[in-house]
Amino acid sequence: MNVAVIGKGGREHAIVKMLANSKSVNNIYAIPGNAGMREICEVMYRVNEDDFDAIAGICIEKQVDWVVIGDAGPLSLGLADFLIDEYGLTVFGPRKKEARMETSKSFTKNLLKKYNIPTADFKVFESYDEAKKYIESAVPPYVIKKDGLSEGKGVVIVENTEEGLKALEQLAVLSDEDDVMEPLLIEEYLQGEEFSLMVMVNEDYTHTFEVIAQDHKSAFGRGEGPNTGGMGAYAPVTHISEAVRLEAIEKIIRPTAEAMVKEGLSYFGVLYLGAMITDDGVKVLEYNARFGDPEAQVLLSMIESDFACILEKVQRKEPLSIEWKDGYTVGVMLATEGYPYEYKRGIGIAFTDEIMDRSFISGLAQTEEGDYISSGGRIMLVTGTGKTIEEALKAAYSSVEEIQFDKKEIFYRTDIGHRALISK
Ligand SMILES: Nc1ncnc2c1ncn2[C@@H]1O[C@H](COP(=O)(O)OP(=O)(O)O)[C@@H](O)[C@H]1O
Ligand SMILES: [Mg+2]
Repeated sequence: MNVAVIGKGGREHAIVKMLANSKSVNNIYAIPGNAGMREICEVMYRVNEDDFDAIAGICIEKQVDWVVIGDAGPLSLGLADFLIDEYGLTVFGPRKKEARMETSKSFTKNLLKKYNIPTADFKVFESYDEAKKYIESAVPPYVIKKDGLSEGKGVVIVENTEEGLKALEQLAVLSDEDDVMEPLLIEEYLQGEEFSLMVMVNEDYTHTFEVIAQDHKSAFGRGEGPNTGGMGAYAPVTHISEAVRLEAIEKIIRPTAEAMVKEGLSYFGVLYLGAMITDDGVKVLEYNARFGDPEAQVLLSMIESDFACILEKVQRKEPLSIEWKDGYTVGVMLATEGYPYEYKRGIGIAFTDEIMDRSFISGLAQTEEGDYISSGGRIMLVTGTGKTIEEALKAAYSSVEEIQFDKKEIFYRTDIGHRALISK
């Protein structure tokens, strides 16, 4: 089959790599793709993710059978709907209506509440004054969240009333009408260990990944610095027990799939569960409608099975068993100085083909001479594997050491996997 992969990040690089190793896949088109994918597929640099007509045009011209949409942006704009309804393509990635599981936190929280699926208590506010009044009398800690996509910048954990009022100022998007704002959620604060699960979903059919990855959100070590898209990941996370994973499947994932079906949603794609292990059981923090980045790079590279076969089995709702590689994988993200705020474009970086084989590119372009330069805040995830977490860490960081770059212009976290080491 011929496949188009929509997106330009490391997650899409991982998806392309997996498909390139699939027996049944002939041609892969990355739209718009990135410089890391050039050796393994056809990269359509010039096409934007939001140019639906151009994407459809490529799919028709190249006789694409499957489209895999990597990122939430095009899902939220209805790219899946367009390709399915207008061109009859098979699209792995939910329609706009189903993507609300990610694009509207209030939609999801109301669905969870209606079906008694464990999650933090919450209230939704669309009146600024009411939210303010609530904050003035609420007892912290609690969490204030924007309803829609906000690239990790829409959530504030509030420790005291002053912070609550400041967060309201910061997050509220007021409309022209008096007192009306875009929905904000105020949630009960959940204490516990956080983890995520990737689930392949086709309506009532679910297959939850057996292996869990943990990402690292803060820019610098040990929770310091601003929140980012993710500065590294490792798997498996052995301090999250199989019992917890099974509880999440039983009490959260299956009931959510059933609830979606009952609500008339027809979900096809990856559903990412963000969850907290509390004293009162596992609870939903949020859902995403696509793989996490960089969790996907680490997890997909640990899959031994044919990825295209996995997609086809999910589509046909056939029993699926995923074969996982033994041992550990660690991924360390390199990012340009200033990320996640202003970041530098055009910063040079050089590495061997061997390093490229073990890396997933997020933000690199190539000059006419073929040299790599930064084109995004996050540049590349460098991975290492080993029988133990220590071995995998050593492999990943020694690869990072082999890469040539200026440490004043490019940075990375040196403590990836610290939770795994502590919990030993
Ligand atoms: N109810 C909650 N209790 C405690 N921490 C929370 C809660 N909700 C969110 N968080 C923290 O904030 C982070 C971001 O929240 P999340 O709902 O995942 O939004 P997003 O990923 O869209 O920014 C979570 O990964 C978690 O660490
Ligand atoms: Mg999240």
